[in-house]
Amino acid sequence: MTLRALIAGSGGYLPELVLDNDALAARHGLDTSDAWIQERTGIRQRHLAAPGEQASDMGAAAARAALEQAGLPATAVDGVIVATATPDAVFPSTAARLQAKLGISTGFAFDVAAACSGFVYALSVADAMIRTGQARCVLVIGAEVFSRILDWTDRATCVLFGDGAGAVVLRASDEAEAEGRGLLSCHLHADGRHGDILQVEGAPGLVRMAGREVFRHAVSKLAAVVDEALAHNGLDKSAVSWLVPHQANLRIIEAMGRKLGLPPERVVVTVDRHANTSAASIPLALAEATRDGRVQRGDLVLMEAIGGGLTWGAALARF
Ligand code: COA
Repeated sequence: MTLRALIAGSGGYLPELVLDNDALAARHGLDTSDAWIQERTGIRQRHLAAPGEQASDMGAAAARAALEQAGLPATAVDGVIVATATPDAVFPSTAARLQAKLGISTGFAFDVAAACSGFVYALSVADAMIRTGQARCVLVIGAEVFSRILDWTDRATCVLFGDGAGAVVLRASDEAEAEGRGLLSCHLHADGRHGDILQVEGAPGLVRMAGREVFRHAVSKLAAVVDEALAHNGLDKSAVSWLVPHQANLRIIEAMGRKLGLPPERVVVTVDRHANTSAASIPLALAEATRDGRVQRGDLVLMEAIGGGLTWGAALARF
């Protein structure tokens, strides 16, 4: 009998403050326009963390929502993995702080750093730990306060990001394989030669990005890793029920949807309302699509992301 990891629940948290494009431009005196931002990225607004609100606070809120959906108490959790590029501190890890906020004091807790691909990376680690019997119930969380590492004078980057957190509960299952359910596979890649096209630089460290270069890599690398995930499972693209992509840019998301032959209503989009929340974007989108009834039991969900590193990856899960 093979153990598999089931996505038993998901949850999201978004900070209270919402700024649309015009409000953001006015707040920071940016020479930009709502039309430019929407046309290039699909972003209409973003949520921004309150002063003092940290990744572990937002992640804990998302985790509580995910546990509630899974119908599991925090005491069932034997591991916490947080994907973040904006940790509360160098150490303790955001995962350890979040674990304490949930009232858990057993099991493991650690952070994963893979920028916007962080959630797929963390999911892959948790999946491997469950398959090998090292853990039975793992919280996998993406939590980001990118507003703290943005250069608010750089209109080419600061309009693109938002704050938030998303979480999933992964639970070991003996029956999932027979039912064809659970995480089927994860596929991770990195190419550090391209580290300088999307990085945090200087003191204080702020995001710098060569947008066109990142765009070019995103379209080709995501297409390749999606093909890899489907081929690995002997699946045709027509088997995919939902694309739940990292939410950086609507044009990239739409290109991936077209590649998979999916109608737009089968692609989960939050970038218009959340902007790019980095490692939080996939679990936030999953939380939305499971709560509003789009993703149903038995659906095949394809997740993909690319981010600083460069890092990229994909995961396939049957709900
Ligand atoms: N408002 C108005 N003008 C802006 C602007 C803004 N917010 N940001 C940049 N511009 C200007 C530039 O200064 C440039 O002006 P110039 O031609 O006078 O020099 C012009 O717009 C074109 O800039 P460019 O960077 O070439 O635009 P683009 O069409 O490539 O769009 C991005 C920029 C960032 C939207 C696009 O490159 C992108 O989405 N890249 C991928 C980003 C991504 O996915 N990152 C996250 C990965 S996790």
